[in-house]
Amino acid sequence: MLILGIETSCDETSAAVVRDGCDVLSSVIHSQAKLHEKTGGVVPEVAAREHVAYIIPVVRKALDDAKISLSSLDAIAVTKEPGLLPSLLIGLQTAKTISFATKVPVVETHHTVSHIYSNWLERDASEIMFPLIVLTVSGGHNDLVLMESHSRMRVIGTTLDDAAGEAFDKVARLLGLGYPGGPRISHAAKSGKRDAYDFPRAWLFDSVRNGNKRKMSFDFSFSGMKTSIRNFIAGRKLAEAEIADIAASFEEAVCDVLSRKLCEAAQSFGAREAHLAGGVSANGRLRELVSERLKPEITLRYPVKLEYCTDNGAMVASAAYFSRNNSFFCQGI
Ligand code: KG4
Ligand code: ZN
Repeated sequence: MLILGIETSCDETSAAVVRDGCDVLSSVIHSQAKLHEKTGGVVPEVAAREHVAYIIPVVRKALDDAKISLSSLDAIAVTKEPGLLPSLLIGLQTAKTISFATKVPVVETHHTVSHIYSNWLERDASEIMFPLIVLTVSGGHNDLVLMESHSRMRVIGTTLDDAAGEAFDKVARLLGLGYPGGPRISHAAKSGKRDAYDFPRAWLFDSVRNGNKRKMSFDFSFSGMKTSIRNFIAGRKLAEAEIADIAASFEEAVCDVLSRKLCEAAQSFGAREAHLAGGVSANGRLRELVSERLKPEITLRYPVKLEYCTDNGAMVASAAYFSRNNSFFCQGI
């Protein structure tokens, strides 16, 4: 089954052709990061205008690279939600217009589910074992999902405030490191000390949901950590070495919380695999801590390429293929 995936939910204009959910025949991503660096974050209308300028060339290149004509496609998958509305509309209208002209059906996908399927790209699907736990962590979302099959997914934890990627972006801005914050913080952290500052970790012991005061909740909260850093640096002129130490200590604190909750969830739900997905899954320290802490019998996976961690059309096509019969999946025209 050949699916064209289109992704425009935030600041990447992307299209890809994927065969049977795993085999990536082409993947084209136009990142708008340079454009948004000027404003230190994504301005929705600016992002939408950039999608308008790039969506047709990106789709055309994806088809050309895959050596596929529109008429040989089985479906066009496109991100429906969640995301920035003006950005989403460009992808949706493009998919529906191509569908109107070619009669190829449109399949609308959920963005978080698409990130989950980034771990199927360029892998043999028969090797991935259920049940598994996925930590999807990016600028807009931060969820722990228990996946028992392609049609049984349950969110067992989510963020109560900021997603980790959003915290990376905000702290990078406070430190004057620019956008996007994740890679900038990681770069600055290389020359800093991880234990220079002990920024607060929100473990959130959940007495209500678990009926047991001592049980850690699988929900997340990063706004307190961000505020603590804001208060810490307020009114101070930071030397380069201090910025590096703050970046390293902040990265450590975020990755400590993410990795502990993922590993604990994997163990308590009897998962055979633990997956990292979303923009923050590109983070080297997060990958390192999870592989140190995960029980050896649980398989750790993260996307095979860095470009599949952040937003991309290939994961959208894969999600459409594997979840074509489930309720997360919204059928289009
Ligand atoms: O998945 P994505 O492209 O978009 C959303 O769905 O939000 O993720 C973007 C987020 C940004 O917040 C960015 O700072 C973060 O992923 N990110 C990283 C890294 N690379 C990207 N965070 C930590 N470390 C990284 N290496
Ligand atoms: Zn995303």
